[in-house]
Amino acid sequence: MTPESAHAYAVEIDRVDKRFGAIVALDNASLRIRRGEVYGLLGPNGAGKTTLIRSLVGLVAPEQGTVTVLGQRMPQLGVLARVGYMTQQAALYPDLSAEENVRFFGAINGRVDGVREALEFVDLWDRRKSVVSTLSGGMRTRCSLACALVHKPELLLLDEPTVGVDPQLRIQLWGRFRKMAAAGTSILISSHVMDEAERCDRLGLIRFGRMLAEGTVAELKAKAGVDRLEDAFLKLSEDREP
Ligand SMILES: Nc1ncnc2c1ncn2[C@@H]1O[C@H](COP(=O)(O)OP(=O)(O)OP(=O)(O)O)[C@@H](O)[C@H]1O
Ligand SMILES: [Mg+2]
Repeated sequence: MTPESAHAYAVEIDRVDKRFGAIVALDNASLRIRRGEVYGLLGPNGAGKTTLIRSLVGLVAPEQGTVTVLGQRMPQLGVLARVGYMTQQAALYPDLSAEENVRFFGAINGRVDGVREALEFVDLWDRRKSVVSTLSGGMRTRCSLACALVHKPELLLLDEPTVGVDPQLRIQLWGRFRKMAAAGTSILISSHVMDEAERCDRLGLIRFGRMLAEGTVAELKAKAGVDRLEDAFLKLSEDREP
């Protein structure tokens, strides 16, 4: 392990501001994700989740603050081959097969040896020859997940990865995310779904671009003095109205 990969945090976002015209997308946002941790980013529509994730791959340039990924200050192209990013809207080549898409994303990150494993991970190996435009919506989502992890990234960024995925496969995918984390992969997952949030090691609650609270599910419930995570989110949001 090089000193930089031995860095304790996979992600460090420190007091980041990002505006789009009059819209404040990120407001003094800070968070840290430890190596091998599954971190859930939870917040309503427009909270800033996608903007925060995009800042981690250099697609959003903050006006203030710093972003460090795998020990490297962003933006830094070199680090991207060690990161997998599943965007909120599936970004696939519709005229290519599932397998060709996964192979392509592997190749641009210098690895094509994990194509079968990635397709099996999302239960698409049997449909590998299908052209993406003929796959169902949930299958396309699963294909883009395979594209994000084919090169075995150290950090996986998943922007609402299970939207449209059926409940049975969702549970399976979570089991597999947990296994990847146990093997050392750091995972950031954005979600609105509270039962998914319960499966994360730690959660960050975001609203109006601000981190409202951070901690384990138990810590957040205790902080809000409630029994359900949904209620904790509502309570902690009320405490921080703009
Ligand atoms: N490129 C852009 N240009 C203008 N405004 C933007 C841009 N990207 C994001 N925004 C605005 O920034 C705010 C945060 O958006 P963002 O996509 O980060 O939210 P989100 O938490 O991912 O929401 P959702 O749950 O709906 O995906 C929104 O008000 C959005 O309209
Ligand atoms: Mg989003």
